[in-house]
Amino acid sequence: MIILGIETSCDETALALIETRGEGSRTECRVIDSLVHSQAELHSAYGGVYPTLAKREHGKNLVPLLYKLLADKPLGDPVRKINKNDFTEAVSLFKQDLHGQNDELIESLSGADFLIDVPRIDRIAVTEGPGLEPALWVGINFAKFISKLWNIPLHPINHMEGHIVGSLLDENTPRNTWQNLKKLEFPALALLISGGHTEIIKIKNIGEYEIIGQTRDDAVGEAFDKVARLLGLPYPGGPHISLYAKQAREENIKSNITLPRPMINSDDCDFSFSGLKTSVLYLLKDMNEKSEEFKKGLAREFEDSVSDTLDYKLRKALDITGAKTVIIGGGVIANETLRQRFKETADEYGIPLYLPSRQTSGDNALMIALAGTFGKSSNIPDPQANGTKRLDR
Ligand code: KG4
Ligand code: ZN
Repeated sequence: MIILGIETSCDETALALIETRGEGSRTECRVIDSLVHSQAELHSAYGGVYPTLAKREHGKNLVPLLYKLLADKPLGDPVRKINKNDFTEAVSLFKQDLHGQNDELIESLSGADFLIDVPRIDRIAVTEGPGLEPALWVGINFAKFISKLWNIPLHPINHMEGHIVGSLLDENTPRNTWQNLKKLEFPALALLISGGHTEIIKIKNIGEYEIIGQTRDDAVGEAFDKVARLLGLPYPGGPHISLYAKQAREENIKSNITLPRPMINSDDCDFSFSGLKTSVLYLLKDMNEKSEEFKKGLAREFEDSVSDTLDYKLRKALDITGAKTVIIGGGVIANETLRQRFKETADEYGIPLYLPSRQTSGDNALMIALAGTFGKSSNIPDPQANGTKRLDR
């Protein structure tokens, strides 16, 4: 089965094409292509993701990205051709349906004659949530349009399920080569750490999820971004903090500050990161110290605090569930200190740890396409964006 994945939940416009065969734990996958257009630099000026700008950018980017994805005919000759007039008619109907909601998308569709060639795709998978609703709607509207135009089933996907199944792909298998997905033994556990989410999920089976812990306020990536901002570092701040912390370790800079390890003594698997950010805020106010050395030391202590907290709760969840496999997903797992820490923990527990590659830890459409075949998805021709969509409902 060939699946087109579409992801627009935040500030990455992403499309991917994969082919899968087999079922369940015997699923094999071939990555045909995966394109990610990051808007991070544009949002950097606002110190965070600006939803209206994200919406406009997705509207501009989707059609050119799809063109790029299909230009070299990776799926061979089209299965059929749509009459040019029918295409023009479809775009004008779509424009009426959108009531001026997505002018950028309509404008780029108007010149997109390549869409009259219907590609050999069996299914379209699109992120329906969670995420920023104005951004999600662009991907959904676009997916609905091509699904109807090409008469291909449309599967709405939970972004968090994408982050879970995305870790099952092997990072070293080259494009266009068949690979077996990594094997999950149930129950499995997923720790999802991104800019919008911090959750621990018990996976009873693919498609059967129970959230056993989550943040009560800020997500861990958000804490990285906010602390970076306090230190005068650009958005997204996670990579900058992690670079400072790395330099502190290499240069043997230690901070004389001790930050809290929030909720480490609570009896559950929940998190809270807003207090940690506030501690940094007060500390910076009190100290008036801004040297590079101080910032590096602070970044290191912050990273250690996050690492201790996440690891402590992960261990608690492993003890409670008796999980046989652990997956970590979400943009924050690009962080080298965390990757190392979780590897050690999984080794200690004697269970496999699956991490996405550093390239696929951030938002991408490969994971959405994969969830479209491997997850709990079904054909829904008229999906709705749901900014707070949960994985367990
Ligand atoms: O999953 P993701 O790409 O988007 C969301 O769905 O939120 O995650 C983005 C988050 C941002 O907060 C970013 O600062 C953080 O991941 N991040 C990192 C690192 N690279 C990205 N945080 C810590 N260390 C990193 N190396
Ligand atoms: Zn994400």
